[in-house]
Amino acid sequence: MIIIGCSAGKHLASKVAKKLKKPYSELRVKKFPDNELGIRFLVPVRKKTVVLIQSFYGNINDQIIEVLFAAYNAKELGAKKIILAAPYFPYFRQDKRFKPGDCISIEIMGKLIDNIFDKVVIIDPHLHREKDLHHIFNIRQKKLTANHEIAAYIKKNYNAKNAYIIGPDWESYKWAEKVAHLIGCEAIILRKKRLSGRKVVVSLNKKMDLKGKSIIIIDDMVSTGNTLIEAMKNLKKLGAKKFTIIAVHGIFVENALKKLRKNNAKVITTNTIPNQAAKIDVSGLIAEELKKKRFFVFQ
Ligand code: R5P
Repeated sequence: MIIIGCSAGKHLASKVAKKLKKPYSELRVKKFPDNELGIRFLVPVRKKTVVLIQSFYGNINDQIIEVLFAAYNAKELGAKKIILAAPYFPYFRQDKRFKPGDCISIEIMGKLIDNIFDKVVIIDPHLHREKDLHHIFNIRQKKLTANHEIAAYIKKNYNAKNAYIIGPDWESYKWAEKVAHLIGCEAIILRKKRLSGRKVVVSLNKKMDLKGKSIIIIDDMVSTGNTLIEAMKNLKKLGAKKFTIIAVHGIFVENALKKLRKNNAKVITTNTIPNQAAKIDVSGLIAEELKKKRFFVFQ
């Protein structure tokens, strides 16, 4: 096995390789003046199980081309198996034709990956209408979750007895309720209506007194931060003053981190995407999965 750090995956790939005691190499990615990409392996991949680690953030469309070119290249160069480990996988939120003529991006991503990879591993994918990864990919797939790592972080840093875990929208129950269960406290799930990519309305569905409580809002991802800002507005009405926000994927576009911190929020994420708030390491999760003997069995 060889672990290859792609341009948006190096921060985790080298750690994973170290944990597995496997060779590590970076993928060489060069951009030509006309924006075409040049991809090169710097080590032989023949007869190897090649693990490409790519978390998609920033220039995600280039990063998709990068992993597809790398995977086809690995196959042509004689790789035995090709695995994509994507701590964060993009385009999952566009999972239906919202307006006539819309592209269902999640399905197309599934087809692109199916065509060349043997297995895909994703941490906390944003699954909404599609209930599981096998609805998207026909190849072998594994969905990992950082819930245990998040719960361990809370246990270490907070008094769970005095904590309220809040999920800002219906979909967040998979993280908020699970983590609350793991640490033994109550979870409250709010209601959210999305009006556009940047506008959401969040409302409370029950009254409670949050004065003096540790309020920990948990979601799978933060993009513009508007979901969480709206959630905090509502929670303030119930007496909450300070907040901790924990998300798996810190995408943080348009100064989201700064905006959240201005609202008296301490922000923590995992390191699926590197950022200033990434305090919870998920390299062990990926390494454990790659270690499994039955790696190629359908799960
Ligand atoms: C959507 O349902 C997700 O779970 C997040 O709540 C959402 O993507 C966050 O986006 P934003 O930070 O832009 O509100």
